[in-house]
Amino acid sequence: LAPVIAIDGPTASGKGTVASLVAEKLGFHYLDSGALYRLVALGSQKAAIDPENGPELGFLAQKMLISFKNGRVLLNAEDVTEAIRTEEVGLRASKIAVHPEVRDALVAVQHGFRRSPGLVADGRDMATVIFPDATLKVFLTATVLARSERRHKQLIAKGIPAKLVNLLSDLEERDARDSSRGTAPLAVAEGAKVLETSELSIDQAVQAVLGWYQT
Ligand code: CDP
Repeated sequence: LAPVIAIDGPTASGKGTVASLVAEKLGFHYLDSGALYRLVALGSQKAAIDPENGPELGFLAQKMLISFKNGRVLLNAEDVTEAIRTEEVGLRASKIAVHPEVRDALVAVQHGFRRSPGLVADGRDMATVIFPDATLKVFLTATVLARSERRHKQLIAKGIPAKLVNLLSDLEERDARDSSRGTAPLAVAEGAKVLETSELSIDQAVQAVLGWYQT
């Protein structure tokens, strides 16, 4: 089996950026597992499925046609790359992700990303549930304030109006839901290295992960 670097952490911790850069440096594949939950969120919004209805959401997740091509994300052949990135879809993703039916439906899809020469997998439960045999497990985190500021900068750069106070409370709400759900709660896996990035640049975080992988 190809090696896996699992990078888990809370919302807006910068793990997406760090994980994709590590993958690029090593020439590895990259799995953005959050995008899968966002796809289920968007699909369920379009199909008007209640975010509380686990069985129906699980059924939807099983029959969705998902593909990642040249940096674009397709849902049933429709390009939804930008549509899945809104805060609204992110919040809905965090709600639908609590259902075991949804999580189970996405397991095989995630395992499918493990191909030679290797994979960098980014999410909440990469090291604990999806790839428990990962070669390297990293838990990437930062303070709530640092994460809110990063998210704020990202949104403003994209021309999306956003208020720091609202982002802060959104983030706390998502943290609480991620850590308290019964299935695959966000947690530091046994043997994981914790990387606190509040005071680190992206490059420093990438170098830390590469350093651990190469030693
Ligand atoms: O980091 P951010 O919350 O912006 O979003 P994301 O990584 O794109 O993931 C969207 C949502 O999916 C998260 O808020 C999590 O609740 C959920 N998720 C999950 O439950 N398990 C994963 N492996 C990845 C994401």
